[in-house]
Amino acid sequence: MGTTDTGDRLAIRAKNLTKKFNGLTAVDNINLEVVKGEIFAFLGPNGAGKSTTIRMLTTLLQPTNGEIRINGFDPIKEQDKVRKSFGIVFQDPSLDDELTAYENMELHGILYNIPKELRLRRIEELLKMVELWERRNDFIKTFSGGMKRRLEIARGLLHHPSIFFLDEPTLGLDPQTRNQIWNYIFDLNQKEGITVFFTTHYIEEAERIAERIAIIDHGRIIARGTPEDLIIKTNASSLENAFLILTGHTIREEIANNIDQMRMRRRMMQR
Ligand SMILES: Nc1ncnc2c1ncn2[C@@H]1O[C@H](COP(=O)(O)OP(=O)(O)OP(=O)(O)O)[C@@H](O)[C@H]1O
Ligand SMILES: [Mg+2]
Repeated sequence: MGTTDTGDRLAIRAKNLTKKFNGLTAVDNINLEVVKGEIFAFLGPNGAGKSTTIRMLTTLLQPTNGEIRINGFDPIKEQDKVRKSFGIVFQDPSLDDELTAYENMELHGILYNIPKELRLRRIEELLKMVELWERRNDFIKTFSGGMKRRLEIARGLLHHPSIFFLDEPTLGLDPQTRNQIWNYIFDLNQKEGITVFFTTHYIEEAERIAERIAIIDHGRIIARGTPEDLIIKTNASSLENAFLILTGHTIREEIANNIDQMRMRRRMMQR
């Protein structure tokens, strides 16, 4: 990955990005470069800083420090341009339960100022893509988890973004639906060249679909590369195995043991 890259080639660039919440450093001086048209997985254990990073990249949270470019635009100074460039599926559900599937799509299209004719055409196309066209007039509160997730994906794509952020899009879904969702996303990437930046705890999904991966732990990027690079680097049998070697018990136990030992030594010295 070249550090001399500027502007054009990159969909996402973050330089020395940091977010502090009171005493806690949730994102600690990270650097990211995602090339246009790439499928990029951002992996890490619970609380590692994934959603916080996505929120900063998508104008929802102001960084404590660092610089971001989304398609070359600055999320702080050029919020509108940045917002038009990306679509997002949030980790937490964000549909309106009291509206129908169609109404949820319409609302989003209106918020993004998509002209009516184009809007109607695009809604139909996307609802058909996620196989919800037949259910378009049903209320969200009658939808299953998988149907809601598919609708959120369709909604995120309505304004034709060139970058798609997906924060745990397949959480809690059955293997069939997860597979179907990754197929839509992969097709979009192949056919429309959309850049995909996603998080998941299903590491085998990342192994299958991601071209490059960054692993974040305690706010810091601890490894990056292709799935193959990470497997080779850690001498693992699969990406999941590599992930556990990089983030798992060994490292944390070592840290805990060191702290324990320090405490013990101090106690002995105080005697
Ligand atoms: N608004 C906030 N105020 C205070 N602390 C926060 C806030 N948002 C996140 N944090 C903290 O920042 C850290 C990173 O959280 P974040 O949600 O980014 O993790 P994550 O990697 O997305 O985890 P998960 O896999 O569980 O979704 C956590 O310790 C979390 O408690
Ligand atoms: Mg999260």
